[in-house]
Amino acid sequence: MFTLSRLKNWMSAPKGGPNDNNDEKHVAVLAFPFGTHAPPLLSLVRRIAAEAPVVSFSFFSTKKSNEALFSGSGNQDEFVPNITYYNVHDGLPEGFVQSGSPAEAIHFFIQAMPENFKNAMDVAVKESGKNITCLVTDAFFWFGADFAEKMHAKWVPLWTAGAHSLLIHVFTDLIREKLGDNKGADNGKSVDFLPGFPELEVSDLPEGVIDDINGPFATMLHKMGQALSLATAVPINSFASIHTVIESKLEVKCKLLLNVGPFILTTPQRMMYDEHSCLAWLNKHENYSVVYISFGSSIVPPPHELAALAESLEEGGYPFIWAFRGNPEEKLPNGFAERTKTLGKIVAWAPQIEILKHSSVGVCFTHSGWNSVLDCIVGGVPMISRPFFGDQRLNARMLESVWHIGVGLENGVLTKESTMKALELIMSSETGKIMRQKVEQFKEAALQAVERNGSSANNFNTLIEIVTS
Ligand SMILES: *[C@@H]1O[C@H](CO)[C@@H](O)[C@H](O)[C@H]1NC(C)=O
Ligand SMILES: *[C@@H]1O[C@H](CO)[C@@H](O)[C@H](O)[C@H]1NC(C)=O
Ligand SMILES: *[C@@H]1O[C@H](CO)[C@@H](O)[C@H](O)[C@H]1NC(C)=O
Ligand SMILES: *[C@@H]1O[C@H](CO)[C@@H](O)[C@H](O)[C@H]1NC(C)=O
Repeated sequence: MFTLSRLKNWMSAPKGGPNDNNDEKHVAVLAFPFGTHAPPLLSLVRRIAAEAPVVSFSFFSTKKSNEALFSGSGNQDEFVPNITYYNVHDGLPEGFVQSGSPAEAIHFFIQAMPENFKNAMDVAVKESGKNITCLVTDAFFWFGADFAEKMHAKWVPLWTAGAHSLLIHVFTDLIREKLGDNKGADNGKSVDFLPGFPELEVSDLPEGVIDDINGPFATMLHKMGQALSLATAVPINSFASIHTVIESKLEVKCKLLLNVGPFILTTPQRMMYDEHSCLAWLNKHENYSVVYISFGSSIVPPPHELAALAESLEEGGYPFIWAFRGNPEEKLPNGFAERTKTLGKIVAWAPQIEILKHSSVGVCFTHSGWNSVLDCIVGGVPMISRPFFGDQRLNARMLESVWHIGVGLENGVLTKESTMKALELIMSSETGKIMRQKVEQFKEAALQAVERNGSSANNFNTLIEIVTS
């Protein structure tokens, strides 16, 4: 993927400042402070900074986000001291009280951009005495292109999800042109003009692509899709070989795509405390017999769907570990927890990566968030998808129709019938067996990619070079 012409392309990109000594280099890192965006950006930047001790890094996020990310004293990162962090204004009005959904806070933040970042960056430049030579940002921040141009710096936006969802945002204008601006009633309409996406339907598209296109989030993603062609390089938390068709289409629009993931393999994971002894419990079960359930850190499916899933597990007699958000006594059918005390485990928090790597886990119920999909691939576990929003429906479509390492549910929701059917397919049919072999192949490809001289490892070296030289 990394060709000589591309190499020349970025080597001729504008360089910062009057002198090119590395100790004059100053990398500004701009984080999106919501959801699971800032942590992977920070872990990527830590790895780069550790390789380039003479380069200064300034990390920008909101106070709340920085407090969750850094526990070091002062404003230095405790792991890589060359990363200094700065708070940017969160845009919230004085005295704002957060209601239930984070959407409001996100909108205020988007409204405050990019001035809030600009102000904090001015402080960092002043304090360090070094102009910014490279901007590493969340890909959402379309204004990175303008900043970079004004500062004579490079722009490296990180896309934290898969290449297929990036394709949708880069080709949003085309999609709108072909489908019209209004989703209307035709949700089942197929979207057949994008390569690498068989069986894609209008209802799989993320919100804001063709409906509600004027909202702050939709506008941000649309601008991002248009600006990415100006980026020096676009790193992605994925690995080569799972996206070849889609990537070749993206490469027409982007100067340089760099698969540098999966981050769960490239970043040392802290051993998570297993307070409910999930792993010891798994040791007592047969290979591929256990159902693992997690809908991520922010989603709780509606009560009737939770009930349908619970009934299916109980009736099918499937051993399970359920990472459950909220109070199971309130949200699951009466007496379920008591009756299934020996069959399964309902826990508030589970060491997901270790669980998925355990040989007794046979399937994972997931919302199909990208990080969870990668966890399952690296664990070699086929998936049953119940997607909710954002890129989740696209991911589910890839799992089922392109990669054949997961299935969706009939009508997209958990009913007793759809759940039983999906469980039987994966746990006891020949198709399920083939799916497991397929996901094992994906796992091997991921492991190879991050090994020395693997594609992700080599791309990472390219990325270091771009960011720090
Ligand atoms: C930083 O940039 C400004 C304006 O572009 C320039 O005048 C100044 O000399 C630069 N400073 C350093 C240390 O390179
Ligand atoms: C980076 O950290 C090392 C070790 O703490 C220190 O010696 C060096 O001066 C730092 N470099 C910069 C650019 O801050
Ligand atoms: C279970 O899986 C592990 C790891 O793949 C394997 O070493 C072991 O032989 C398997 N056990 C049985 C009974 O098949
Ligand atoms: C790295 O991989 C390439 C292509 O797969 C191969 O040609 C080359 O010999 C490898 N280099 C090393 C040092 O293993």
